[in-house]
Amino acid sequence: MTRVKDRKELGIAIIGAGRVGLFRGGTASLHPSVGWIGIAEKNHNRGAFVAEKIGADFVTADYRELLARPEVNCVIVATDEHLHVDPILEALKYGHPLLIEKPLATTLADSQRVMDAIEKAGVDAVVGYTQRFRRKWISGKEKVAQGALGDVTLVSSRAFMNRLVAIDNYKRTDDPSTISPMVISGTHALDVTMWYLEKKKPVECYARSIDKVLGPLYQGIDATAGMIMFEDGTILHLNISWALPVNWPGAVYSLEIGIVGTTGVLTIDDTHRDMVMAVAQATNEGYAPDQSRLVDFLGSYPPGDLAFGELHGPMAEETNAWISRVSTGIKNHAATAAEAHNRLMLTKALDLSAKRGTAIKLPLDAEEERRLLG
Ligand SMILES: NC(=O)c1ccc[n+]([C@@H]2O[C@H](COP(=O)([O-])OP(=O)(O)OC[C@H]3O[C@@H](n4cnc5c(N)ncnc54)[C@H](O)[C@@H]3O)[C@@H](O)[C@H]2O)c1
Repeated sequence: MTRVKDRKELGIAIIGAGRVGLFRGGTASLHPSVGWIGIAEKNHNRGAFVAEKIGADFVTADYRELLARPEVNCVIVATDEHLHVDPILEALKYGHPLLIEKPLATTLADSQRVMDAIEKAGVDAVVGYTQRFRRKWISGKEKVAQGALGDVTLVSSRAFMNRLVAIDNYKRTDDPSTISPMVISGTHALDVTMWYLEKKKPVECYARSIDKVLGPLYQGIDATAGMIMFEDGTILHLNISWALPVNWPGAVYSLEIGIVGTTGVLTIDDTHRDMVMAVAQATNEGYAPDQSRLVDFLGSYPPGDLAFGELHGPMAEETNAWISRVSTGIKNHAATAAEAHNRLMLTKALDLSAKRGTAIKLPLDAEEERRLLG
């Protein structure tokens, strides 16, 4: 740990003021190192609402106008998953540090293009793999990195979600083939497990998907189960279903991970069954309130929980950590653009394997993906 005396005052540009833009903007508005906040939100009413709520200094519908403002010295890109690329490329022209929402992009070619552009610009860009900032995942990471389990040989990850996030994503896209449970949501569990397996090299993957619920409704995918094999024989076994009934009590994620090593084992229960609320009438708790949801695992909304007008939990900690990083220049454990590209590549390879019913060699690039899709 170092005592930091030099801190830069920040002028933050937030592009995309939806749910995440509001959470991050709200947290930033309370931080003493933040002197100015501007918002670009293409939905005028939403932009005005968020600007008022967080006391923004500037609001526009045009992210180019925002980025050109002299007060801006760092940028948050929080647009919809498939709309990250253009604002990132524009922001890179200014060389400002970036906090980009996951995934980096929704196609392999775009993700590669964005990662290359970030590396070429030499910009400090981190990606919103927010669960890395949940305390239990940080302490697990530290133990695994210290070798407490010996050499890790098997990781098993089970992710369950009710179908509200899936419905929301499929409704918002005009190309359902770019939206999958692995790419949009499984990426969080994948990031945590790959972070734990940081030094190992994935060489092959295999997966299968099922689409009995979301297929007929949205040409979507319900669930994907797969395996990633590593050069040294280590196995990562992972599955995600985002098609559980709406009244499944996890607001979003219920995750269980087991990490087995040659001399130890670590199991992490992130299902949030430790705080259960049941009510006679629906409240506004949880993700996209739905009147049929009367039971909730409180604490299962991935960004965290609102209380006393502030966000508490992983996204607040991650945003504050990023502000400190930019303000002091001291790096932290946030995911890099290269790690984010690796996660997109792995989720695409798993989806491709499920589509073809064959194993896929890793790493996969856009050209090989196109060739294998035929
Ligand atoms: N890190 C996490 O834990 C976490 C959690 C939820 C969502 N996310 C990610 O955050 C991103 C945003 O998700 P959300 O739930 O806030 O979505 P959202 O739909 O609530 O917000 C996106 C906003 O971006 C705006 N927008 C889109 N393109 C724009 C543009 N070019 N200029 C200005 N505004 C634009 C939209 O109008 C919308 O208001 C997604 O990539 C999502 O995957 C991350």
